[in-house]
Amino acid sequence: MARAVSSRGLVLNSRRETELIGKSIGRVLREGDVIALIGDLGAGKTALVHGIVSGLDAPPSVVTSPTFMLMHRYHGRVPLIHMDLYRLSSLEEAEAVGLAEVFTDDAVTAVEWADRFPTLLPSDRLELRLSHRTFTSRSIQFMAQGTRSRSLLARIRKALPSMQKQGQPPRPGPSEKRKASIR
Ligand SMILES: Nc1ncnc2c1ncn2[C@@H]1O[C@H](COP(=O)(O)OP(=O)(O)O)[C@@H](O)[C@H]1O
Ligand SMILES: [Mg+2]
Repeated sequence: MARAVSSRGLVLNSRRETELIGKSIGRVLREGDVIALIGDLGAGKTALVHGIVSGLDAPPSVVTSPTFMLMHRYHGRVPLIHMDLYRLSSLEEAEAVGLAEVFTDDAVTAVEWADRFPTLLPSDRLELRLSHRTFTSRSIQFMAQGTRSRSLLARIRKALPSMQKQGQPPRPGPSEKRKASIR
C-alpha cells in the first residue's frame, strides 16, 4: 500500500505566482506523471496548468474531445494530456468515455476536478489542492500518493526553494521573480 506524503502548502499571491509555480512543476515533470487538481471553481486549477504548459515548453494545440469532457493535448518536452472532469455527471459516464484508459506512461496527465472520480485515476498520483484565500490569493497543498509521485514531489521541492526552507521567502530566479511564500 502506497504511503501518502503531504507537504505544507504554499501561498500564491496572484495568478502570476500560480502560473510560475506551475511553470516550475512543468520543468520537472516526466512521462507517466499524473497531476490530480482539486479545488473549487476559480481556485486556479487551469491557471496552474497554463504554467505547467509553459514549463514544458509546449505551444498550445487543441485536440478533439467529447463535448462533455474537455481534453487538450499539448506537445512539449513531454506530451501533456489536460482533462477537465467538471461536466462528467456520473461514474458510469466517466467509465463510458474511457477515463481510466487515458493515463499512459508516454505522457503527463493533468486532471481538473480529479476528486470527482478518484477510483478511475491511477493510485500513484500527485494531488494538488488549491483553495481560495482572498480575491487574489490562493493556497496550494501537495500530496504524493505513490512512488512515482513521491519522486515528482521531491523534484518539485528541489525546484521550489520556498518548499525547502519553510518560513523563508523563495529566492527569485535570474529571469523571473517568484513570490510565493510558505503558509
Ligand atoms: N492567486 C491566484 N491564482 C490563480 N488564479 C487567481 C489568483 N487570484 C485570482 N485568480 C483568478 O481566479 C481565476 C482562476 O481561474 P481558473 O484557473 O480557471 O480556476 P479553476 O480552473 O480552478 O476553475 C482566474 O480568473 C484568475 O485570474
Ligand atoms: Mg478550470
